[in-house]
Amino acid sequence: MIRKLIAGNWKMNGSLEANEVLVRAILAGVGTPGCDIAVCVPAPYLAQVAGLLKGQQSVALGAQDISRHAQGAYTGEVSGSMLRDFGTRYALVGHSERRQYHGETDEAVALKAKAALDVGITPIVCVGETLSEREAGQTDDVVRRQLAAVIHENGHCITEIVVAYEPVWAIGTGKTATPAQAQQVHAVLRSQLHAASTAAAGIRILYGGSMNAANAAELLAQPDIDGGLIGGASLKAPDFLTIASAA
Ligand code: PGA
Repeated sequence: MIRKLIAGNWKMNGSLEANEVLVRAILAGVGTPGCDIAVCVPAPYLAQVAGLLKGQQSVALGAQDISRHAQGAYTGEVSGSMLRDFGTRYALVGHSERRQYHGETDEAVALKAKAALDVGITPIVCVGETLSEREAGQTDDVVRRQLAAVIHENGHCITEIVVAYEPVWAIGTGKTATPAQAQQVHAVLRSQLHAASTAAAGIRILYGGSMNAANAAELLAQPDIDGGLIGGASLKAPDFLTIASAA
């Protein structure tokens, strides 16, 4: 059985003071977790949170984005080797907010996944359909297209990625996909991964989109849901810890 991953996506939230309170509360309550846990923090706080996480193995550090380039004249970008300098273990790539507000294409997302793999960071590749795509019956096609670009670019390295299915209409809206809806899409993604790699059974597929302390257990009980990508609920230590213990 795959060890599940619960990753918090803080998005553009936090402060030096709030981060310290949050991370200390998570560490105080986490015990010996039965799953992998990560917090994906805003880039300016990587150093701070790396310091707070030092000397323990239960909670790993993640970033929310990564440049597709290794170095050079890319103002405002953060490279994989810079993330590595702070012990970053995971990087979100292709979050729907990046696709929507920063014009990230499937191809750009695939290159970001590659940039992460190149420096030994595990990319958490986000895919998901909008409400209008779902209503038009395009969900499977959209997520398959998004994942196909990453498979095409990364070939056999695909076994080193984490996939996160996040229906855009469920993100931050309080509307969660039902466990059955989520499982159906996860099964589609799983079979696509199986077609690309003989080791696909080991690739974790997370669900994200209004996952919270109340609904996590039922979602995480689905056969192809291998963890969660948690936005809002990751900012409250008790909720985040409840989700982690459900995994
Ligand atoms: P949410 O965000 O849990 O607040 O819906 C999830 C995400 O965007 O990763």
